[in-house]
Amino acid sequence: MSTETQKYTRNSPYQSTMLVNYVLTDKDSEKETRHIELSLEEGMHYTPGDAVGILPTNRDSEVEAVLKALKYKGDEPVLDFFKKPTTLDDALRTKLHIGKLTRGSVNSYAKLAPEGTPGLDFLKSLAGQDNKSKAEEYVWGREFIDLLTEHPGGITDPQQLFTVLQRLTPRMYSIASSQAKFANTVHTTVRVVRYHTHNRDRQGLCSGHLGERAPEGEVLPIFLHANAQFRLPEDTSAPVIMVGPGTGIAPFRAFLEHRQTHGHTGDNWLFFGEQRAASDFLYKDEFHSMLADGTLQRLDTAFSRDQQKKIYVQDRMKENSAELWQWLERGAYFYVCGDASRMAKDVEQTLLDTIANGKDCSPEHALEYLNELKKAKRYQLDVY
Ligand SMILES: Cc1cc2nc3c(=O)[nH]c(=O)nc-3n(C[C@H](O)[C@H](O)[C@H](O)COP(=O)(O)OP(=O)(O)OC[C@H]3O[C@@H](n4cnc5c(N)ncnc54)[C@H](O)[C@@H]3O)c2cc1C
Ligand SMILES: NC(=O)c1ccc[n+]([C@@H]2O[C@H](COP(=O)([O-])OP(=O)(O)OC[C@H]3O[C@@H](n4cnc5c(N)ncnc54)[C@H](OP(=O)(O)O)[C@@H]3O)[C@@H](O)[C@H]2O)c1
Repeated sequence: MSTETQKYTRNSPYQSTMLVNYVLTDKDSEKETRHIELSLEEGMHYTPGDAVGILPTNRDSEVEAVLKALKYKGDEPVLDFFKKPTTLDDALRTKLHIGKLTRGSVNSYAKLAPEGTPGLDFLKSLAGQDNKSKAEEYVWGREFIDLLTEHPGGITDPQQLFTVLQRLTPRMYSIASSQAKFANTVHTTVRVVRYHTHNRDRQGLCSGHLGERAPEGEVLPIFLHANAQFRLPEDTSAPVIMVGPGTGIAPFRAFLEHRQTHGHTGDNWLFFGEQRAASDFLYKDEFHSMLADGTLQRLDTAFSRDQQKKIYVQDRMKENSAELWQWLERGAYFYVCGDASRMAKDVEQTLLDTIANGKDCSPEHALEYLNELKKAKRYQLDVY
């Protein structure tokens, strides 16, 4: 277990080399989901269930646009969030969140902006709880550069950017590999975030970088992040049920590689869901070979858009309700990874229904059973 203190942290990351970066989804897919492998230094350890943090860097074009809008050259000295001296250019590249605009940034900008800043009265009118929805409407889909170009002249000293903007934060990715199999690398499964707002194509800062600007051989600052709340059972013969649609599959590739490499005897049941079988079946060959070699006892897939009516992972759970109940009754551990907003809630409700049916009990008693599972660490979530 990676409970030991890591040498590298978010404030002192490891400079890792991108070893492998390819698209897992087919060209016909509506998504671009990538498999990424990053180098580790000897002595860096992780456990299946952990995450890797990647520190993103703002795009050159965006840094240049902000410098231009502010009429600075970039060599102006500033003190970073830890009062360490650096240049404005470095701060805009690696330390300041110049992407998506926040209400806090607009409020701070309005407070600091001198009289005569265009639209200052409007910006000031967005302050306060009463104007929250108006402010939210303004920031939606806008980036810092939009504030600077629509209301120029608000920043009169480069150091003020550390008051107006938040810190550029690392992005977390569930680890998709086991060190039992890959001693010196860490793998992740990344969906590239792309969308369109205010007449512009946008992309997520970190996933977009991994999708477009991070060739093999590039160096990226990373750190390993332990997650003691998402762990395989200590009893290596205990059965495991894993529900991981989309990128939620990542930690289960790690779990399965771990059990396979160590020859652990516990049964494994995987539920995977995505849009289409032909274009979105992530790691299909690997999971099929795990079925063939007996690592996986069950693999149930739900391809939501291969037919008129959506089929989701919880529909497969319902179809297999009686067998799921048998697995739970013989001590199975139940894991869910992926979308927190809808999927995890729907899967939990289906699990409760499975328990109520299996036990022939009331919803209240099913909830008690689920709470017992949680207490025994037999129901674990890694959702985001
Ligand atoms: C514990 C944990 C594990 C994770 N594991 C994984 C993983 O295994 N794989 C994975 O791919 N991701 C994972 N994530 C998500 C990941 O950390 C990043 O949040 C994701 O990659 C986006 O970061 P980004 O820098 O590319 O995008 P950002 O620049 O941060 O932009 C994302 C933001 O863009 C906005 N946005 C996105 N879509 C739209 C839209 N359609 N319309 C308007 N605005 C929109 C939203 O505000 C969103 O928050 C995980 C997150 C956590 C917390
Ligand atoms: N914070 C970020 O910016 C960010 C970045 C990357 C990923 N994520 C999140 O990571 C998660 C995984 O994203 P992903 O694109 O890999 O996969 P996803 O959006 O979770 O989609 C995977 C599959 O789940 C289906 N699905 C939709 N609603 C569901 C529900 N209520 N219950 C069960 N299945 C459902 C989808 O079907 P349909 O699409 O056909 O309905 C699809 O077949 C999502 O939460 C996503 O928002 C967040």
